[in-house]
Amino acid sequence: MRKGIYPGSFDPVTLGHLDIIHRAADLVDELVIAILHNSSKKGLFTTEERIDLLKRVTEDIPNVKVISFDGLLVDCAIQYGTKTIIRGLRAVTDFEYELQLAQTNKRLRPDIDTIFLTTNVKYSYLSSSVVREVASYGGDISHFVPEKIIDDVYKIVKRGEKK
Ligand code: PNS
Repeated sequence: MRKGIYPGSFDPVTLGHLDIIHRAADLVDELVIAILHNSSKKGLFTTEERIDLLKRVTEDIPNVKVISFDGLLVDCAIQYGTKTIIRGLRAVTDFEYELQLAQTNKRLRPDIDTIFLTTNVKYSYLSSSVVREVASYGGDISHFVPEKIIDDVYKIVKRGEKK
């Protein structure tokens, strides 16, 4: 059985992430979506909220599993029985960081490889921070996140502003 792991912060999940998830899920028998739970690097969405949003937007993809992890990604990959990390590449600006991440992971675990999927050009400008920013001003995020989570994203972003 061929498994892959797609890690990220997903703060929150975007249509760009979802596009990578669909394509990655076609490449493997099981795709583990691994949400970084980092207590020192708090995001706007709690880990439970990110898990919930990701589960809802992937409920129609049968070979996807959503989990959270703390610690090293390579350890999480081994724990879930995969040696294939999948990451999306939006633009050349992503490249340096992604290369460093992939090479660090390779140094830590030479048996683990990273595969890059190029982001659909439709979403090449899109990021979770763009979603948070536009939502915080009440802008239209319907081109940025799946329809079924739009209301929750506004609600959570507004809650963050009250803090
Ligand atoms: O969506 P992001 O924030 O670009 O995802 C980054 C992520 C979660 C893939 C990366 O920060 C990560 O793997 N963190 C876990 C700690 C780790 O293993 N770091 C790799 C060595 S620098």
